[in-house]
Amino acid sequence: MTTPDGGERPRVVGIIAAGGSGERLGADGPKAFVFLAGRPMVDWSHDVLAAVCDRVVVAVPAGYEDDGPDRIVGGVSRSASVRNAVVTAPEATVFVVHDAARPLIDHDLIERCVEPLQAFDGAVAAVRLTDTVKQADGAGRVMATLDRSTLWTVQTPQAFRAVALRAALEVDEALLASASDDASLVERAGGRVAIVEGHPSNLKITSPLDLAIAHRLIEEVPRGV
Ligand code: CTP
Ligand code: MG
Repeated sequence: MTTPDGGERPRVVGIIAAGGSGERLGADGPKAFVFLAGRPMVDWSHDVLAAVCDRVVVAVPAGYEDDGPDRIVGGVSRSASVRNAVVTAPEATVFVVHDAARPLIDHDLIERCVEPLQAFDGAVAAVRLTDTVKQADGAGRVMATLDRSTLWTVQTPQAFRAVALRAALEVDEALLASASDDASLVERAGGRVAIVEGHPSNLKITSPLDLAIAHRLIEEVPRGV
């Protein structure tokens, strides 16, 4: 692959956002370190990113930074954690950002997110909606039924030209905290972002039910790196 930023080859740095507390999961400790099929959740995606990226930086909660290489303390919001990781990787020409909360990522999806960077500033894994989507007012009255053929739910991985992500993250803490993904900040800064069709099995672990489903999926489909 030729580098989108110029230069000889891209320096692909993976970033894993693992700095959250996991309140909705309700475990004893931070979600990324809850055990899933015998190992901390974050280790599942770390293995996959490490096989594809030149280096992987993991943003963790304070107190967990000494437990492994390339761990840094995260921030008060998810995007603040990503920014803390970005500043430790001046060599990057491409960033692949991934949530520790999605342990079932695979190689192929990462590579398919990096490919569009030849033409785009960012590319996000996403899946089509299968449910009907309605818009309602505050009282719960349906206002509209949306055309779902143009709607996607967005996941990680999200890949970016490093210059675009660095610039997009140069905003205040409040704006960082309001961003539910990094691509929205790149879009806000005028960047072009592509959709890459992913898979529903790249699920996000939020609740105990999600953890149970992920456990079953790992048992049923043995995952290689
Ligand atoms: N994250 C992070 N830094 C934060 C908040 C979240 O790196 N300050 C990470 C989480 O560790 C997770 C990902 O962002 O891998 C997605 O966030 P979410 O699923 O909301 O995880 P938590 O914030 O940990 O969970 P909750 O919102 O239930 O507390
Ligand atoms: Mg959260």
